[in-house]
Amino acid sequence: MFIDGRFTDGGVAERIVRKSPAHGVEVASWPAGDERSVNKAVAAARRAFASGAWSRLHCAQRAAVMRKAADLVEANLEKFALVEALETGKPIMQARAEMGGVVNLWHYAAGACRTIRGESYNNLGENLFGLTIRQPVGVVGAIIPWNFPLIVLSERLPFILAAGCTAVIKPAEQTSGTALMLAEVLAKAGLPAGTVNIVTGTGPDAGQPLLDHRDVDMISFTGSTEVGRKVLAGAARNIKHVGLELGGKNPFVVFADADLKAAADAAAFSMCFNAGQCCVSASRLIVHKSVEAPFTRMLAKLLRSIKIGDTLSPKTQIGAIFERAHMDKIMGYVNNADAKIVAGGKRAGPRRGMFIEPTLITGAKRAAPICREEVFGPVMTVHGFSTYEQAVRLANDTRYGLSATIWSRDASSCLRAYRDIDAGRIWINTVMEDGPETPLGGCKESGVGREAGVMGIEAYTEVKTANINLGERERWLG
Ligand code: NAI
Ligand code: MG
Repeated sequence: MFIDGRFTDGGVAERIVRKSPAHGVEVASWPAGDERSVNKAVAAARRAFASGAWSRLHCAQRAAVMRKAADLVEANLEKFALVEALETGKPIMQARAEMGGVVNLWHYAAGACRTIRGESYNNLGENLFGLTIRQPVGVVGAIIPWNFPLIVLSERLPFILAAGCTAVIKPAEQTSGTALMLAEVLAKAGLPAGTVNIVTGTGPDAGQPLLDHRDVDMISFTGSTEVGRKVLAGAARNIKHVGLELGGKNPFVVFADADLKAAADAAAFSMCFNAGQCCVSASRLIVHKSVEAPFTRMLAKLLRSIKIGDTLSPKTQIGAIFERAHMDKIMGYVNNADAKIVAGGKRAGPRRGMFIEPTLITGAKRAAPICREEVFGPVMTVHGFSTYEQAVRLANDTRYGLSATIWSRDASSCLRAYRDIDAGRIWINTVMEDGPETPLGGCKESGVGREAGVMGIEAYTEVKTANINLGERERWLG
């Protein structure tokens, strides 16, 4: 763990061991942190916040530390990518690209840090004048999932730091390596001790005490909707701020006039990237009936051509499913779909099937679990529509609202659907392409709040208003 500027086992003897899901060999272990570790980390973060060493530092100096951290990640990119690939089971080429994305996020936040500002109200009459300032929210607890360990952390931590907050990070117990490496980088870059603390451990043992802690001012949580509800319950204790990015059941809508070849490639990418273990992965293909059959054939053919296998080979496009239990869960949805499997449907690759073939399913009933629940694997169901209204109804027929993808050559169809489909992030004639500038998050049961962009910094600030009399106040009692 990393607490108050030092690496420590926190006095915890028990360790969590991680085996590479693609290779079956041990690649890392961390202390199984608990409430005591969380208490120490929160106390360190509180002391650091109160000292002002970070929260009151000039924004140019804050930016300099974050830029230096970005440069150090870049200088060690190979090592970061290897650790990420081994712990998650993702292909090495993908891990390298993600680490490039991490560097970009830290650079962006370093610059955006210098845009924080307040407002003035010069329209309140002769005597009254208003001001707002943005102040850091305080100590932020961030709970991070295993699917994009360093990307998800970097969509949050540099923004938390840019706002002037201090943090306690609880990475996923399966993939804590790169968070710890980042802590080392931040220390080298000159971040004051206690500003960022990393507590390793499981959700119930190390995550839950952070949610419940009365001296934590905000929780930023990314993961399942189920645990998202626990975040809100914990937040009720001391009325914490919360940012939640949760599950999705994301539609991929193809209108009849779409560039079908391009759309099929995008659909394959959307469902297979990171083996479908992305909160924004498309999992429901909603396609116009006039092109449904040829489009499904085209997509099925593409899916069969995808290279699954050794994650350390630069040719591999789909890596391992991150954990045996998760693979069993995905295969459970596929085996109980009670529908036609037109591509894939089986375990694949080395290591007695820790890999899953990209799977396309037609004819599944809309009430079936595979059509309603987040499967989080390379699996998509196909649903036909005849009218625009039907397409939107199908797209919105879910309790989630994280992302959606729309393909059409007609700008007004695209823009109408952008307006009508419930999702925090929409892609039009592209997929899963974005930059640190654009906010991300979900609606409905996919979350609250937005990360990244200038909004992503503002999320970690509190607005304080001043009403100032410039003349003489009108007396109440004369
Ligand atoms: P999870 O929500 O349990 O885990 C995410 C993070 O929350 C981890 O760091 C975990 O240790 C922590 N956590 C778990 N229980 C906690 C608790 N009681 N208090 C505080 N922190 C806690 O997700 P899990 O179990 O890894 O995956 C289950 C399903 O959730 C997946 O199959 C997938 O559908 C969804 N999921 C969605 C993600 C997304 O990006 N939206 C990411 C990971 C999972
Ligand atoms: Mg869980």
